[in-house]
Amino acid sequence: MLVLKHVSRQFGGLMALQNVEMHLPAGNIIGLIGPNGAGKTTLINCMTGLDHPTSGHIEFNGTPIEKKPAHRITALGMARTYQNIRLFGEMTVLENLVVAQHGLGRATLADSLLQTPRHRREIARLRDNALQLLKRFHLDQSADVVAGNLPYGDQRRLEMARALATNPKLILLDEPTAGMNPVETTELGEQILRMKADGKTLMVVEHDMSLIAQVCDEIYVLNFGQIIAHGTHQEIKNNPVVVEAYLGQEEGA
Ligand SMILES: Nc1ncnc2c1ncn2[C@@H]1O[C@H](COP(=O)(O)OP(=O)(O)OP(=O)(O)O)[C@@H](O)[C@H]1O
Ligand SMILES: [Mg+2]
Repeated sequence: MLVLKHVSRQFGGLMALQNVEMHLPAGNIIGLIGPNGAGKTTLINCMTGLDHPTSGHIEFNGTPIEKKPAHRITALGMARTYQNIRLFGEMTVLENLVVAQHGLGRATLADSLLQTPRHRREIARLRDNALQLLKRFHLDQSADVVAGNLPYGDQRRLEMARALATNPKLILLDEPTAGMNPVETTELGEQILRMKADGKTLMVVEHDMSLIAQVCDEIYVLNFGQIIAHGTHQEIKNNPVVVEAYLGQEEGA
């Protein structure tokens, strides 16, 4: 589904990513872990077109995407969530999902609500679809709540619903459980497994190893921009190179 070849990203003198080789097979959940500042978010940014590699290649279902802008990559069937939640805080929960599907800005959405019957039917269809997604994430009771007023865990789930709203093939989640309690985290793991059962391919960036163990088929470990290990949870958890990378972080902290 997604293949990375020799992907590097340099910020001035800093190699945030160095020769990253990765393969996300269709229908799998791939974990990406590593200490703070390892380059995980930079890697997601390069995959989604928010940022671009300094060198190397990224193929999405055979199409080179390393130079494409984010909206083109979204149109090819990739979606993501953000480590720092990025919702339209002043819009309602439902509006956030309608806009995500339509790919419209706020002004144009208002315009189209006033327009032709065909437009109105289209919006009604998007609303139905959005309401179904909200039910799935237990957010239907909050459909008319302004997104910025939602509790933190609900905002994270809304981000996930929004990612699904574009009906993507591949979904990249950047620390989806940050700020969640253990009950919410376990439930989120079940939601992630349900996406896989629906045929989606996923990559999950997480510090919560219980979630990683719960959902991932394979795990990549990134440290100082380099992949230092790759394997199943069993294979990486006792890998001395991985243990040392995390110990190094604690000593530094
Ligand atoms: N736009 C930028 N300009 C300069 N340096 C950057 C930029 N974005 C990231 N970096 C640097 O690149 C490195 C990797 O950062 P990144 O955010 O990808 O790490 P991360 O693995 O996501 O960390 P965390 O677990 O804390 O989210 C860090 O040293 C960071 O300071
Ligand atoms: Mg990050």
